[in-house]
Amino acid sequence: MSAQFGDFQNEIYFSALFGTLPTLPMAFAELERRAESALPPSVWSYVAGGAGDEFTQRANVRAFAQWGLVPRMLVGAAQRDLTVELFGLTLPSPLFLSPIGVIGLCAQDGHGDLATARAAARLGVPMVASTLSVDPLEEVAKGFGDTPGFFQLYTPTDRELAESLVRRAEAAGFKGIVVTLDTWVTGWRPRDLSTGNFPQLRGHCLANYFTDPVFRSRLAKTPEEDQGAAVTAWTRIFGNPLTWADLDWLRSLTSLPLILKGLCHPEDVRRARDGGIDAVYCSNHGGRQANGGLPALDALPEVVAAAEGLPVLFDSGVRSGADAAKALALGATAVGVGRPYAYGLALGGTDGLVHVLRSLLAELDLIMAVDGYPTLADLVPDALRRLSPTVGES
Ligand code: FNR
Repeated sequence: MSAQFGDFQNEIYFSALFGTLPTLPMAFAELERRAESALPPSVWSYVAGGAGDEFTQRANVRAFAQWGLVPRMLVGAAQRDLTVELFGLTLPSPLFLSPIGVIGLCAQDGHGDLATARAAARLGVPMVASTLSVDPLEEVAKGFGDTPGFFQLYTPTDRELAESLVRRAEAAGFKGIVVTLDTWVTGWRPRDLSTGNFPQLRGHCLANYFTDPVFRSRLAKTPEEDQGAAVTAWTRIFGNPLTWADLDWLRSLTSLPLILKGLCHPEDVRRARDGGIDAVYCSNHGGRQANGGLPALDALPEVVAAAEGLPVLFDSGVRSGADAAKALALGATAVGVGRPYAYGLALGGTDGLVHVLRSLLAELDLIMAVDGYPTLADLVPDALRRLSPTVGES
């Protein structure tokens, strides 16, 4: 029998027999608690915080508790297959690393984008690299090894700059472009507002701009000579309030797979599909952008139906392998991990991130084993039931 993700638990139990216990957390609550101690307060606030009173952020997580997987018996799911076909690529698992703009700052050495790329390479779990990174996208891509990577574009108002970023991503070997639509303006974030905390304004995570020939050509002095002026220039071009009229232009930017992030309404999904995109990315940005919103998981079934067979990537609120199983059963093709990997990185660099992903994958794999769903194709909506309203409340 070939190696399976669930084997991770045997490694842990056997190491314990020889006196070695895990040093990294085995569950999300402890991961979160320890990450808070490990990160500088400003980075913690930026990563852990969300929009408004963070209702939507909490609702994203709670939404998973409204579903229960139904176990099936006598399936003999001794060998599980978690592989996914996406854009002609065969991925070993349905997980990917969601774009996190300050991931660079989450690593103790300040190079978290590079550490994340190395983790992606070790596990074959693709990284969606944010436009907002400490290290330029070319350096990040070098760490991927054989694992495909995707570039997440924050579309600037300067169209030539947008084109330049996409050309660079193509040249660096990225396998798709994820355009994030919900963040042309920053949402209202009281946690960060109360300390005036916005890392980019302090010059952090702007390497892709500062190294870009088009961006540099717009400046009177180089970012090395006058960082303040470069940051000010960045604030002017960062967010483009795109409309449907821009979709043809976005599509024309690349022949790589084009994925739109932030689609939650079925009508938007249909229009995007008609506009020639390659995949839908259902997400509410982890509740960081607009408070008062629907949990992303609740939007997923309608998004999947409207996608009519296009791949649907999903994130927002995934904290465990069980959560991933539920999102997959509701029709997600691949499931993005967000905050948990930032916390793993904060605690243990690349090894910490790998530990978090291996834990999620082991749990997902073992749930598929125990519950009798040996392949991802078996995880269909009928594998789930709604919990009665009182169950799962705590
Ligand atoms: C994000 N997210 C994000 N998304 C994106 O498209 N580009 C980005 O640069 C960022 N930056 C970012 C920073 C931080 C600190 C966080 C936590 C998130 C959103 C991210 O891709 C994903 O949608 C959410 O993280 C999913 O929510 P959870 O599961 O992390 O709560």
